[in-house]
Amino acid sequence: MTTMVHTRADLRAAMHTYAGELGVVMTMGALHDGHRELIRVARRRCEVTVVTVFLNPLQFAAGEDLSRYPQTLESDMVICTDEGVDVVFAPSVAEVYPLGEHPQVRVQAGPLGNVLEGASRPGHFDGVLTVVAKLLHLTGPDVAYFGQKDAQQLLLIRRMVQDLDFPVEVLAVPTVRDSDGLALSSRNGYLTEGDRSAALALSRSLAAGVGAAVEGPAAVRRAALAVLDAHPDVGLDYLALVEPATLLDVPADFFGTALLAVAAKVGTTRLIDNAVLEIGGAPVPVS
Ligand code: PAJ
Repeated sequence: MTTMVHTRADLRAAMHTYAGELGVVMTMGALHDGHRELIRVARRRCEVTVVTVFLNPLQFAAGEDLSRYPQTLESDMVICTDEGVDVVFAPSVAEVYPLGEHPQVRVQAGPLGNVLEGASRPGHFDGVLTVVAKLLHLTGPDVAYFGQKDAQQLLLIRRMVQDLDFPVEVLAVPTVRDSDGLALSSRNGYLTEGDRSAALALSRSLAAGVGAAVEGPAAVRRAALAVLDAHPDVGLDYLALVEPATLLDVPADFFGTALLAVAAKVGTTRLIDNAVLEIGGAPVPVS
């Protein structure tokens, strides 16, 4: 049975009825198969699974899509029940931020939070880390699951957990995609039919970059950009080939594991995607 609670007191009371390893999956709701996969991975290991559903105003800047972000708590609850989640914690804004929506004390993401997504969305990662810290305190998990889809968010959460000694293990779950390659996102619902086919340029550009990995960084960037350049209806924000731990651009002679990250506006919707690739390795023989 899945219990839904809305207050920290009810969460605490509900958690007292469970024992065993606890996994948490944090979401902003509008659950899709990407979230479902996080829940499944959590359930495979943990005896108890908590899903948080909270549209966190702190991580949205004025003019971003907070007011139109889909809120579908009823169908989210159906998915959680379906997946055997034990507790869904769906608090109000006042419950999470009882002293006001603009907490004075926040987690600062630091330099890693100022590049890529952070350059386009100043303050975004401070808002993310602040709510993730609070939700970790409120739910007290052994393991917290996050998607590779939001690679920079995942990196920053790992850094916060290390830098601030949160007693939790952070595990990554690979990006779940539609059969045509589009990374699942709660924001895909904003896309018109035309937008949706244009949006495929993101995953295709990543695939082109991965395909050129053996030739080195310049070839990866060139191949990925060629796909995006062929789609004038995709408003590229950035395409970056960076070292996964520092998010610094890889140098021309780099070889090893890199992160190819892309962000673009399609219609009115800002989308992100990424791929991890091995640069400059020996070509895989085709048998
Ligand atoms: P949200 O966008 O709802 O995503 C919740 C979790 O699902 C994140 O860990 C995200 O990386 C993961 N996720 C989203 N799409 C995915 C996909 N296609 N495949 C795999 N995982 C996917 O990310 C947030 O919410 C918020 O910033 C949050 C961490 C909850 C803090 O408010």
